Amino acid sequence: MVRMRTEGEDERIAGCVIGCKDSGLGKILEVAIRAALAAGEVLRDLYDKPHRITHKGVIDLVTEADVASEQVVLEILREAGGNIGVLAEESQSSYETLPHGPVWIIDPLDGTTNFAHGFPFFAVSIAYAEGTTTKVGVVYAPMHDELFCACQGGGAWLNGRPMHVSGAATLQESLLATGFPYAIEQEVEGVMEALKRLVTRSQGVRRAGAAALDLAYLACGRTDGFWEINLKPWDTAAGMLLVSEAGGRLTTYNGQGYIPYIEEVVASNGKIHGELIGQLTDFTRDGRLKNEK
Ligand code: IPD
Ligand code: CA
Ligand code: CA
Repeated sequence: MVRMRTEGEDERIAGCVIGCKDSGLGKILEVAIRAALAAGEVLRDLYDKPHRITHKGVIDLVTEADVASEQVVLEILREAGGNIGVLAEESQSSYETLPHGPVWIIDPLDGTTNFAHGFPFFAVSIAYAEGTTTKVGVVYAPMHDELFCACQGGGAWLNGRPMHVSGAATLQESLLATGFPYAIEQEVEGVMEALKRLVTRSQGVRRAGAAALDLAYLACGRTDGFWEINLKPWDTAAGMLLVSEAGGRLTTYNGQGYIPYIEEVVASNGKIHGELIGQLTDFTRDGRLKNEK
């Protein structure tokens, strides 16, 4: 099916791709943006309608929109060609080993619980990675029409303008964000203890329910730090590049290098990173990969 481009789409893409110095990555970024905008349109159309909800777990939902959005993304990526693997939350989500070649990493609707309740904080997240390194990242928040994108070495952009992490220098002057895992019952003590430590040392902690968007908000300076456990590669693969290209830093809870296959992430504007991991290091899983038991 040939998709009609929406008005202004080419300009939006140009405003994002402008930073991409590598023309090959620029083309990939363009495809990722087209897919994210198209999927965002699907989510916007379905937002006000009654939802068909099924459960992956007791509180882990899937709606018709997760599936429809993923289909649109996959169709656009497939049409664009290239010998690129796919890791997509709703249809191709298994990863026993770390990837070596090129791979698309897709969360068609990050913030499903929000979507299902009519809370307009959710996004489409698409990353292109080579091995475990994200080269291109796009996060699109359809209800706010905000397009966050980055390509490695080319900076990060929000609706065509360069974006940067905040300048907050201490935890005490920071607004933080976090999320709670679906398996909260098994994790509640550690999660609450970490929250207690940080809510009492910062200006506040937001828990808005869409990790990809949490990272995007950190990248554009709306928050100063973020931490969460049990996220999946499709939650963070795009957002992590937004943060690093915007000047921020990502590690595990004990300061080791982060890749999106690790169970824990701390992201920040860089300046407060030491203080943030100082509070979280007691809860580290030492960089364990998610499929390791
Ligand atoms: C979830 C959101 C949420 C986070 C969960 C994720 P989903 O993704 O990012 O903020 O706390 O751990 O699984 O299921 O809405 O795509
Ligand atoms: Ca997600
Ligand atoms: Ca999702």
